[in-house]
Amino acid sequence: MQNLEQILIDAQRDFTACNNLVDLEQAKAKYLGKSGALTELLKGLGKLSNEERPAAGAAINVVKQGVEQALLAKRDAILAAEQAQKLAAETLDVTLPARGKSRGGLHPVTLTLQRIEELFHSIGFEVAEGPEIETDFYNFTALNIPEDHPARAMHDTFYVDDQHVLRTHTSPVQVHFMQDREPPLRIIAPGRVYRVDSDATHSPMFHQVEGLWVDDQVSFANLKGVVQDFLQRFFERDDLVVRFRPSFFPFTEPSAEMDMSWNGGWLEIGGCGMVHPNVLGHVGIDAEKYRGFAFGLGVERLAMLRYGVNDLRLFFDNDLRFLKQFS
Ligand code: DAH
Repeated sequence: MQNLEQILIDAQRDFTACNNLVDLEQAKAKYLGKSGALTELLKGLGKLSNEERPAAGAAINVVKQGVEQALLAKRDAILAAEQAQKLAAETLDVTLPARGKSRGGLHPVTLTLQRIEELFHSIGFEVAEGPEIETDFYNFTALNIPEDHPARAMHDTFYVDDQHVLRTHTSPVQVHFMQDREPPLRIIAPGRVYRVDSDATHSPMFHQVEGLWVDDQVSFANLKGVVQDFLQRFFERDDLVVRFRPSFFPFTEPSAEMDMSWNGGWLEIGGCGMVHPNVLGHVGIDAEKYRGFAFGLGVERLAMLRYGVNDLRLFFDNDLRFLKQFS
C-alpha cells in the first residue's frame, strides 16, 4: 500500500514516454491489465481484514482513477497528433488543374479584342459598351439613317420587333456615349454585331470595333494617324501604311474606306470619316464648337490576318483542334 503513490508516478512517466497507441496499450497493461500492478493490489484486498478493506479499497481506487485519467489524456494527445500529421501529409492543392484534363485557352477573337483594347488604352481611349438589342433610333435614325433610307436595306437587319433590332454595327455605341458624356471624348467600342448573311467570308454574328474621338480640334489627319499607328502596333510592322478611298456613310462627312498595305497589295479593313453634324445634333453636341472622327474595323478580319486563318467560319465552329492552337 505504501507504493500506491509511486505506482501513479510510474504510470504517468510511462504514459508520457509513449508516442503511439500500441506502446500506450502495453504501458496500460502494466498497471490496469490482468496482472497489472493495480489489479494485483485490488485482488489482494480479499486478504485484508474487514476493518482495513474499505480504506485500502478507496485509496487504490483514487490511484486507479489517476492512472486512467493520465491514460485518457495521453490517448487524446496521440490521436490529435496523428490527425494533425495525416492532415499535413495529405494536403491538396485544390488550385492545380486536374490530371488528364487539358487546359483551355482564350478564343482567338477574344485575344484579338484584348489586344485592340490594350493598344487603344495606351493612347488614352476608354472602352465603351452598348446593348446588342438596339432600338431602331440608335441603330439607324440617330446615325443619320432615316426611315426609307437605302442604307437600311444594305444592313440586312435581324428585326426583334418593329422597334428593336440586333445591332448591325457598333456605331450606335457612339450615340449612347455622346448622350451620356461631354466632349472631349475618346472611346473605342468593341462588340458583337449581327447581319443576315452567312458564307465563307460572312457570319450572321461577328465583331466590330468602333472608334470615336470628339474634341474641338480633331482632324482627318489625326484619324489617319491614329488608325495607322494602331495597325502598325497591332501587326508589329513599322512599314505598314493606311490609305483612304473616298466613300459614303450616312453618319460621317467626309467618309472614307480604309485600306492597309499588305504583302505588296492593299486590304480593306474598315470605314471611317468625320462625324456628321446631324449625328452631333441628335446627341446635343454643338457642331460649331466640336468636331469628331469615327471609324469601324472588322475584328475577325484583323484576327484572320494576325493568326493566318483563312476561313472565317473556323472562329465559330468551336472545333477544339482549331481552338487548341491558341491556348
Ligand atoms: N458602321 C459601319 C459599318 O458597319 C462602319 C463604319 C464606317 C463605322 C464609318 C464608322 C465610320 O464609325 O465612321 O459598316
